[in-house]
Amino acid sequence: MAEHNLDNIDLNEYPYINRGLEGIVGFSTTKSSIDGQKGELIYAGYNIDTLAENATFEEVCFLLWNDRLPNQKELDELKSKLTQKRELPQPVLDYISSTNKEAEPMAVLRTATSMLADFQSRNTGDKNKDNQSDAITLAAQMPTIVAAFARARQGKEIVSPLKDGSTAFNFLYMLNGEKPGSEAEKTMDLCLILHAEHGMNASTFTSRAICSTESDMFSSITGAIGALKGPLHGGANTAVMNMLLELDKDPDTADPVEFTKKKLASKEKIMGFGHRVYKTFDPRARLLRGMSKSLSEETGHTTLYEWSEAILKTMKEEKDIDPNVDFFSATVYYSIGIEPDLFTCIFAMSRVSGWTAHYLEQADNNRLVRPRALYIGEKNLEWTPVEKR
Ligand code: CMC
Repeated sequence: MAEHNLDNIDLNEYPYINRGLEGIVGFSTTKSSIDGQKGELIYAGYNIDTLAENATFEEVCFLLWNDRLPNQKELDELKSKLTQKRELPQPVLDYISSTNKEAEPMAVLRTATSMLADFQSRNTGDKNKDNQSDAITLAAQMPTIVAAFARARQGKEIVSPLKDGSTAFNFLYMLNGEKPGSEAEKTMDLCLILHAEHGMNASTFTSRAICSTESDMFSSITGAIGALKGPLHGGANTAVMNMLLELDKDPDTADPVEFTKKKLASKEKIMGFGHRVYKTFDPRARLLRGMSKSLSEETGHTTLYEWSEAILKTMKEEKDIDPNVDFFSATVYYSIGIEPDLFTCIFAMSRVSGWTAHYLEQADNNRLVRPRALYIGEKNLEWTPVEKR
């Protein structure tokens, strides 16, 4: 592969070049705003701290889809629609139970989400209404997919969703086969709220780019799941847990400070740290840090939390880099008994609210996404016949 060294290129000729599209604004949005200097995150007007303290995930979904909070009637209607739509079509369930049990849960979620498109009947004749209905379907069914695969791969019976209860409650019920307590439901609900929306990250960009070709919402969300899966994006929460579990292999001699320094010395990235936009503590990481601390105290298993704090301190001292949302969410999910390779799926189950909100916004005010690439290859080479190459 050619080395992409741009040293000899006159960049004045290409004023718009920006690797990784850093700082480039390609869309306007009412869905969220991030102030990377202040460490502030706003969803459709509301500060994340306000939402974390007061909202439910269903209210956040409505907020992102409609740019305002629902009244009681609207909230009840949304909850009822989510409840009605949670069951998966039988062929999707058949796929989940018959696929490779060793498959990555995010890969299964991506495939099953794509399959959902085959089972939608759209007959309202109103594209916007159909899109809104698809958004509810996706938010309702993605948790069912995740829980179903988590059980199927262990040879357990798949648990059908209940006819009532929140997204958080149903997910934990379908995952564990028993109704969760109110604290576990609250923790899960808060995690869903904190991951719902986050500006023009890679997966949201993907969902909008697909929407911009006038493709359907299921294609857009399938692509977004693929983008989220990578360890530089949503896959980081699983990678954080794997890092902590690596330390836990020999807990008596584990030294998180030396472990971190060693990784940094060998130019390895520490997962769950750093961010393109935040240059200070991610506000979601602050909230999750508090949750991680209290959960570890409640369960009496404080070691992983203490190691996390030691890693955080070392990263600040050595690199002046703060944690992002994925760092403490790992120990929070682990404390409530969720298997590490499901963490990114939970991120997706929540972020689908933001992705679909962006889809609706893009569809409403569309222009094809079509950036340029700087060609650094040769031109007009002479053709050599195959036998002479
Ligand atoms: N560990 C060690 N060094 C880091 C880290 C890290 N986690 N993150 C950034 N750096 C260093 C990096 O090595 C580079 O140093 P230098 O200038 O000396 O080469 C500098 O900070 C800038 O990093 P970058 O990778 O060029 O920054 P970016 O804006 O392209 O990448 C990032 C942002 C999130 C991909 C990166 O910080 C990273 O790889 N973090 C670890 C993976 C992670 O936690 N991802 C989740 C992101 S937040 C949740 C989400 O949106 O999905």
